[in-house]
Amino acid sequence: MKRVLLVIGGGVAAYKSLDLIRRLRERGIASRVVLTRAAKQFVTPLSAAGLSGDKVYDELFSLTDEAEMGHIQLSRSADLVVVAPATADLMAKMAHGLADDLASTLLLATDKRVLIAPAMNVRMWLHPATRRNLATLKSDGVLAVGPGEGEMACGEFGPGRMAEPNEIADAVERALGEPARIAATHALPGPGTALGPLAGKRVVVTAGPTHEPIDPVRYIANRSSGKQGFALARALADLGAYVTLVAGPVGLPDPAGVTTRRVETAREMLAAVDEALPADVFVAAAAVADWRVATEGGEKIKKQAGALPRFDLIENPDILASIARRGAGRPPLIVGFAAETEKVIEHARAKLARKGCDLIVANDVSPQTGIMGGDRNRVHLVTADGVEDWPDLGKDEVARRLAAAIAARLAGRREISA
Ligand SMILES: Cc1cc2nc3c(=O)[nH]c(=O)nc-3n(C[C@H](O)[C@H](O)[C@H](O)COP(=O)(O)O)c2cc1C
Repeated sequence: MKRVLLVIGGGVAAYKSLDLIRRLRERGIASRVVLTRAAKQFVTPLSAAGLSGDKVYDELFSLTDEAEMGHIQLSRSADLVVVAPATADLMAKMAHGLADDLASTLLLATDKRVLIAPAMNVRMWLHPATRRNLATLKSDGVLAVGPGEGEMACGEFGPGRMAEPNEIADAVERALGEPARIAATHALPGPGTALGPLAGKRVVVTAGPTHEPIDPVRYIANRSSGKQGFALARALADLGAYVTLVAGPVGLPDPAGVTTRRVETAREMLAAVDEALPADVFVAAAAVADWRVATEGGEKIKKQAGALPRFDLIENPDILASIARRGAGRPPLIVGFAAETEKVIEHARAKLARKGCDLIVANDVSPQTGIMGGDRNRVHLVTADGVEDWPDLGKDEVARRLAAAIAARLAGRREISA
């Protein structure tokens, strides 16, 4: 049975972490709980012990605990360390290597991967100190899930709500299932570990299709799965960027460490992108519907014998072109995607010029390629300087290489190889 060491911080969302213990148990994952002193103001050690079926740890200077297993062993006793809620205070301590209580000491002493689920007031979350701490933690290899947006216990609205227990449990399963790609970095942090190459940069990514309503039950759609855009958002966050992902309707979970906004239509997508700007990089990976019906039916359009309904189409806003053509406020680097079924490079070159972006990631989405909805991709990077053909790769690998290429271009290097 897999085991997590669950550090519960002192925030209102601590009660959700009790539910997390149950959600993890349902998935065959056991929890051993550590409570901070502040967390005990929100949940009781008894509840945590009852739900986890294990002793709860809360004291660094405990003779019995040190005699039994000690704080170092405790930090190594699990397959993954989860911090939920990760308070602003805990994130700051982790980022700076402070160790003045049991939770922070074992977070410094652990040789396991750490997943945080931040939760705090929106101002605390958006404060430059928290942004810096998050960037530091990410570059140290710490994984993050959430926070989401919504109304907060303090009455304010915005990002800062802890991810729901099931989302955290999904992230735990992903982290437990992944090879120790980041654990290696974590095990050997080395002095002066550099921040990720995109630390402090803001990136907005769109992904997935849009749905354009015809009436309350029908819509125009396309086959985009959002997989490439989601993978890219995550890869950019892994390099330290503060990423906002504006996602059309897809069934994928929010990527770890990324602020995800869900939208339906092209108009909503443009509004959400506008809200997320300014940014250093805009990546338009979404397959935005080109058209919508001119007049949306208020009620379900009824089928009538012998009479076919007629729909007039009008153009949707061109999100990529409208952002790329902005004077002031244009992100310095704009990346578009071109999904084509023929003359891929020719069409991508034309799109690069027509839309006014800096780089086009082109791919052939003819049905026989299996790219749309599949897990692999074969892309061509088209710039004013030329075309680079990449081999057939998993979408995660394409995302990692693209994120590295974006970081290189932003740093002023012209080469686009990953
Ligand atoms: C009612 C109340 C709610 C709080 N909620 C949060 C919160 O959601 N997130 C947060 O970062 N801090 C929150 N705080 C502040 C933390 O409890 C405080 O920074 C504490 O020192 C955190 O300790 P810990 O990080 O060791 O758990 C809250 C404080 C109070 C009094």
